[in-house]
Amino acid sequence: METTHRVFVGDSRDLSRVADDSVELVVTSPPYPMIEMWDDLFTELDPAIGDALASGDGRGAFEAMHAQLEAVWDELERVLVDGGIACINVGDATRSVDGSFRVYQNHARVLEAFEERGFEPLPDVLWRKPANSAAKFMGSGMIPPNAYVTLEHEYVLIFRNGGTSRTFEPRADRRYEAAYFWEERNRWFSDVWTDVTGELQAIDIVDDELRERSAAYPLEIPYRLICMYSAYGDTVLDPFWGTGTTTLAAMCAGRHSVGVELEDGLLELFDDRVDEVPALSRSVGRARLERHRSFVEQRRAEGGSLEYEADYYETPVVTKMERGIRLRRVQSVDRTDDGYLVEHAPLACER
Ligand SMILES: C[S@@+](CC[C@H](N)C(=O)[O-])C[C@H]1O[C@@H](n2cnc3c(N)ncnc32)[C@H](O)[C@@H]1O
Repeated sequence: METTHRVFVGDSRDLSRVADDSVELVVTSPPYPMIEMWDDLFTELDPAIGDALASGDGRGAFEAMHAQLEAVWDELERVLVDGGIACINVGDATRSVDGSFRVYQNHARVLEAFEERGFEPLPDVLWRKPANSAAKFMGSGMIPPNAYVTLEHEYVLIFRNGGTSRTFEPRADRRYEAAYFWEERNRWFSDVWTDVTGELQAIDIVDDELRERSAAYPLEIPYRLICMYSAYGDTVLDPFWGTGTTTLAAMCAGRHSVGVELEDGLLELFDDRVDEVPALSRSVGRARLERHRSFVEQRRAEGGSLEYEADYYETPVVTKMERGIRLRRVQSVDRTDDGYLVEHAPLACER
């Protein structure tokens, strides 16, 4: 099986290189309005943003930044198939402007913008970033009432393009082979993810310094979302591509992808490391199988039912729907004129 991964340097406010109705899933994380690291970028997109910030008009800057994102959301509505899903990872921002501290609720503003464009909101996910600083409450003191809660979560806002879900031909292999394990379903489809541990991040090919500078999300986030909301053969778009984590996840998950990024240097960095993807994809797949085996042992110990046998792996599964699960691994990655051609093989049952 082959997948294609196109990556363009460009401005996603105009996605004319992506055809109408050619994408089944969007997984992305935009620059977050009112987070200082993105002020210059937003000001380049619209100089009035810099003026608003300089004059202490926080609310005006926030609105103008979201207007830039909205131009991209318009494009998503065009390129996504009916029933296609958009997963937008976004965090709120706390900031003092003109001496006044407040939270700028990016998640609420993005929700509103998608609803206005005819997307149907679906239940979202709140995830906790791996804990960092013990000094997070520094300066907040021990006396009420003027301390503030620390923001340690982000949202994955999930939308369907239009009112109806996608349909597939009966018993479509590309859907049944892309099934996930029962216990994965229970973790992934929970509305609060406290288990994004950075486990996959450790085998990610993006180093820590680059991750920090580019605000890359852990590989686990797009990998999970791609497994949850797309089938084999589908195309995943990331209009704010950054270090290419979504493309990496799509390669590992055996889906096609398209990415668009303003900064050409990020594409070169990705290209330098792409030869490591076959090893990464094997680790990701093996980690899932290993985790399933641990689950099976625990379930047996607890006397829970495991009624079915998987077709392609020597392991029992809980439900009939999981029998067809067939993970993919990347065999080779070849460069093309506009990205990469990836050859996949089924991930064999290895111990
Ligand atoms: C939060 S980062 C994305 C990080 C990415 N998820 C990753 O894991 O590396 C946002 C990215 O969007 C890019 N960007 C911002 N506005 C853009 C636009 N209008 N068109 C294309 N890329 C844009 C920025 O250069 C930045 O790399």
